[in-house]
Amino acid sequence: TGPCDIYASGGTPCVAAHSTTRALYGAYAGNLYQVRRARDNATLNITPLSAGGVANAAAQDTFCSGTSCVITIIYDQSGRGNNLTQAPPGGFNGPAAGGYDNLANATAAPISVGGHKAYGVFVAPGTGYRNNNTNGIATGDAAEGMYAIFDGTHYNGGCCFDYGNAERNSRDNGNGTMEAIYFGNIKVWGYGTGNGPWIMADLENGLFSGVNAGYNSNDPTINNRFVTAIIKGQPNHWAIRGGNAQSGSLSTFYNGARPNVSGYNPMKKEGAIILGIGGDNSVGAAGTFYEGVMTSGYPSDATENSVQSNITAAAYATGSGGGTTGPTVGSTISLRATTACCTTRYISHSGATVSTQVVSSSSSSAAKSQASWIVRSGLANGSCVSFESKDTAGSYLRHQNYQLYLHANDGSSLFANDATFCPQAGMNGQGNSYMSNNYSTRYLRHYNNNVYIASNGGSNAFDSSTSWTDDVSWVATAPWTP
Ligand code: AHR
Ligand code: AHR
Repeated sequence: TGPCDIYASGGTPCVAAHSTTRALYGAYAGNLYQVRRARDNATLNITPLSAGGVANAAAQDTFCSGTSCVITIIYDQSGRGNNLTQAPPGGFNGPAAGGYDNLANATAAPISVGGHKAYGVFVAPGTGYRNNNTNGIATGDAAEGMYAIFDGTHYNGGCCFDYGNAERNSRDNGNGTMEAIYFGNIKVWGYGTGNGPWIMADLENGLFSGVNAGYNSNDPTINNRFVTAIIKGQPNHWAIRGGNAQSGSLSTFYNGARPNVSGYNPMKKEGAIILGIGGDNSVGAAGTFYEGVMTSGYPSDATENSVQSNITAAAYATGSGGGTTGPTVGSTISLRATTACCTTRYISHSGATVSTQVVSSSSSSAAKSQASWIVRSGLANGSCVSFESKDTAGSYLRHQNYQLYLHANDGSSLFANDATFCPQAGMNGQGNSYMSNNYSTRYLRHYNNNVYIASNGGSNAFDSSTSWTDDVSWVATAPWTP
């Protein structure tokens, strides 16, 4: 049984069902998502291992080995064809060609489900998916429900990490023209208790944490590693619910009338579907999506409680079910290049300047400590890492204009993102490759002995495809200065 079987039994069937991790119907054996690899632009559809099962991540790993992959399509499992693809420009342009949004790096969010490796959809700012030509999604003031599972430790204060109902022309068509789940800690429109992140409803020109614009005291900060987030709405009535997707039950954070702000009753839903962006294609947000659905009709709490039981039984977990993970947080390491030219070179700093330097047992103690790094939990993403200098406490490797520097942490969200790198298996089979947390097509790479975040085949000299997989693969060795 999957979540959509439960919604159907409750009389509120799924009209869209998206997941890169598992089938959402017990009988579903069709395509979950499509990946495209950089080497030759070939594509591959990923299916469940068996009907109703977890995605075949091993097929993706084989296909993407030695190159990089993006997620091109997140298929709709409901049979209505409501697939999500690269979001087009709208009120705002995305960063990709033609004003489209970026596609997600297919290997950036490894996890396991039921002990099997799977990948989520990692949304760095600029990433977005959309369908403006849907079938069966609620319009006007019609009732609908939706849930999604997010990484509760990956969020930001940009607008707007959403999943749900939005405008069909990718523009802000006024209050009430969207109804989506929002997850993050932007406080411009609404917020709850604590510092966030919060589950809120994006109803257009407003993220609502309850009946009031701004603060509502019943909407808590919720930051479990895996969060179940629910928004549902029907005429002059809506609700926010949420819980830990790994265990326990759902709580209701709001259940009542439409906001006491004009324009939201009746609603004017348009029935497009967005993921990772705002209704007007605002592209400032970050987050990770694993699965989500939209229903026809207002699901009962009892139906959603059964869905939550199904979700916890699916057993989402961190770790990639046997795959490589990065260096241990808290340990001190050195980072050795693996390209044949350079296997005695390590990422080093001299003041703010970062480069690779040859280090050996006869190097000076200063040179050794300049090549030693304390692995910290990622400043902007607990699933990733940051590298604090061994000899300059409080200073971290960060990119600026795509080049690496050692700078003191200024506490800003930009710094945190610039200093956060997400490890995955090394692209040449050695050590790890490190994706930039805020530029998900870019990886830590040496080029002419300088260090950058580079994009395979991109427009800068340091983006060169030559020796790409070697240049982006780093072995974490015992530290030159423990
Ligand atoms: O409602 C918040 C945001 O406001 C919407 O996502 C976007 O369309 C508008 O900028
Ligand atoms: O390195 C790319 C971007 O350049 C960084 O995010 C920012 O610090 C600088 O503007």
